Amino acid sequence: MYFLAIESSCDETAAAVFDDEPKILANVVASQAKLHERFGGVVPEVAARAHLQRLLPVIDDALKQSGITLRDIEAIAVMNTPGLVGSLLVGVSAAKMLAVALDVPLVAVNHIEAHIYACRLAAGCEVFPAIGLVVSGGHTCLFDCRSALDFRLLGATIDDAAGEAFDKVASILGLGFPGGPLIEKAARTGDPKRFAFPRAFLRDHRFDFSFSGLKTAVLYAHRDLAKAEGGTVSEQTKADLAASFQQAVIDVLVGKCRQALEQTGLENLCVGGGVAANQPFRQALQRMTEEHGWRLFIPPMSLCTDNAAMAAMAVEKWRTGQLAPLDLDAYPTYMPSAAPVPA
Ligand code: KG4
Ligand code: ZN
Repeated sequence: MYFLAIESSCDETAAAVFDDEPKILANVVASQAKLHERFGGVVPEVAARAHLQRLLPVIDDALKQSGITLRDIEAIAVMNTPGLVGSLLVGVSAAKMLAVALDVPLVAVNHIEAHIYACRLAAGCEVFPAIGLVVSGGHTCLFDCRSALDFRLLGATIDDAAGEAFDKVASILGLGFPGGPLIEKAARTGDPKRFAFPRAFLRDHRFDFSFSGLKTAVLYAHRDLAKAEGGTVSEQTKADLAASFQQAVIDVLVGKCRQALEQTGLENLCVGGGVAANQPFRQALQRMTEEHGWRLFIPPMSLCTDNAAMAAMAVEKWRTGQLAPLDLDAYPTYMPSAAPVPA
């Protein structure tokens, strides 16, 4: 049985084909990064229009690469929440139209939960129960994942998402957009200990995150250093700011995962979302889990950043009869599927 999946929640137009194993046969992503670069962030109206232009060619590409024709598709999966509502609506409308035209079931998948499911997909074996962390441009959420379809929110950011902080700090340092990979690159030659930036809630017994104070601390340090260094900061200072910022984010994310694993007694850690593409972060997670004898699951880059293959979570939903109605709507805000667990 073959599924066609669509993802259009932010600035990547994506389609994938997988079977009910689930095994990925095609995973096509058309990035809009170039379109949004000059604005220093994703412009919702621009993103929605670009999805309209790109979605059908991306679906065509995915079908071609998989060697499957539209007639062979027996279910449509779509991520309908959370995200930019105009962007989501493009994917959701296309998915509904395909489900009606092909007379096949429609399955709705939560984008945040799919980022964690990407770990299960990449591992090819059972990874749940696990602690799940999603660190992306829009979200920083920590879950107690009891099974592939039972995710309980432990905590989330109370202000900026981790990826958003990377993007904003990159903009403060004049590095460009999207900021994550550019900060990572600049940090390679920097000293992570030069600036002692704040690590919010690290010592608190709560699973929430906050990155806006950290971003402001970088802003002020950069402004003061620019003054001291005669108007602009040196390349070395820029690298040191990037490295010290990155280290602060890593310390908080790794620290909260450790606390959650210790508190729940779980032994598996699944990490997904764009920020999980960051190499020093992956290495720090690796060290921390190895030290405790825990198992770490992080998908390869192509399944960390936004993609439609992670919607293979739809196979689990389809198996348990969780189909979406044809009047399926798009929802911009993340709504956890289960009640929060007391910390
Ligand atoms: O999951 P994703 O592709 O899209 C959202 O759902 O938001 O995540 C994008 C975010 C951006 O904020 C980007 O700066 C960040 O992931 N990112 C990184 C890296 N690559 C992407 N952050 C840190 N280091 C990276 N190498
Ligand atoms: Zn995402």
